[in-house]
Amino acid sequence: NHCYHTAKQNNLTLLFSQTSIGEGSMGGRVYRGHPSKRQVMVESGDGRANRIPSTMARSSRLVCCTQRLPDPFHSSPSGEPFDPTFVLSRSGSNIICSVLFGSRFDYDDERLLTIIHLINDNFQIMSSPWGELYDIFPSLLDWVPGPHQRIFQNFKCLRDLIAHSVHDHQASLDPRSPRDFIHCFLTKMAEKKEDPLSHFHMDTLLMTTHNLLFGGTETVGTTLRHAFLALMKYPKVQAHVQEEIDLVVGRARLPALKDRAAMPYTDAVIHEVQRFADIIPMNLPHRITRDTAFHGFLIPKGTDVITLLNTVHYDPSQFLMPQEFNPEHFLDANQSFKKSPAFMPFLAGRRLCLGESLARMELFLYLTAILQSFSLQPLGAPEDIDLTPLSSGLGNLPRPFQLCLRPR
Ligand code: HEM
Repeated sequence: NHCYHTAKQNNLTLLFSQTSIGEGSMGGRVYRGHPSKRQVMVESGDGRANRIPSTMARSSRLVCCTQRLPDPFHSSPSGEPFDPTFVLSRSGSNIICSVLFGSRFDYDDERLLTIIHLINDNFQIMSSPWGELYDIFPSLLDWVPGPHQRIFQNFKCLRDLIAHSVHDHQASLDPRSPRDFIHCFLTKMAEKKEDPLSHFHMDTLLMTTHNLLFGGTETVGTTLRHAFLALMKYPKVQAHVQEEIDLVVGRARLPALKDRAAMPYTDAVIHEVQRFADIIPMNLPHRITRDTAFHGFLIPKGTDVITLLNTVHYDPSQFLMPQEFNPEHFLDANQSFKKSPAFMPFLAGRRLCLGESLARMELFLYLTAILQSFSLQPLGAPEDIDLTPLSSGLGNLPRPFQLCLRPR
């Protein structure tokens, strides 16, 4: 019962409802839009249920070819310090772009750089005190100059960019062989155009593509930056992961997803990073669609519900030392991986993160591929590294940092 905070029609969801269109995301009609998204993701137009997952797996494998790792990860034997934010966003964003738009962008492509800039900027503002203030006093803040004013401009630019791509996709559409998410959605729209209950509309397509792009661009990169900081602060943990990589994978080939089951320590470290970093501390807001009885309370229809994931991830009844970064939280007495019911960075239930499996693949493959070849070195003393977030709102953002890569 410590997980939920409810407030009748408060303004906390305003940013979300104003940056969402039609059935695509938040607001009263949220749930109706959802099946269409999953349906298209799974069917991928040709009815073969494994198509999208295998596309994702392929993309993730590609990323972890050393040629595909962001530049500094294979061209910095000189050990030059760099900030990993941009290179991680650029590489991670390209994975979801290939699913949505059908091909990877060149790393210098203007469209990819624009997408990253717009999403990065919005994630930062929504995670800053400006974003929080806007949620509490929207009518007042509408008149106050500040970075929050950029949220809606950025959102419109991103929507225009997506609309442009959808337009190009319409011209090249061959319903017998859809090439990506947008083609599949357009095919469904055409099939269902006489159905008054259909969820397949242009607005839904634009918003769904936006949500997947937003979810797929910043989350994994932000988690990896938290991971880098923790591994530099605790070099013994980093060394232990590297030992496990050497033992299970060796140096002759790249890590693959099948290795994960044999790498309990690495798995525990990734889980602990996600718990400790708690990158979406208040989850995404939801609105109750009908009167609901919950633990003796009546939650009326129309109430906004904010699930405080933070209280779950830092629950002392679930984790021995919740305030400490400690991979042992996910290991049993035999050093085997131990699940925890209080681990829910992707939430749970019917609305859980649509990108969970992709995100888990990416986190494992990025981290192991990087640590196989490099050690992460901080510029200062490890004990001076501050793991507390720079700001907290929609996301818990790590403090900016630079690191050096030392080839192993
Ligand atoms: C470490 C990485 C990630 C974390 C921690 C994360 C977390 C979350 C959370 C907490 C939610 C809200 C669930 C809810 O409202 O009940 C969510 C929703 C969502 N995520 Fe993720 N996510 C991650 C990666 C991704 C990726 C890679 C994608 C893209 C493929 C993605 C796409 C989405 C979408 C589209 C939604 C909205 C689902 C809906 O409308 O029901 N996420 N995510």
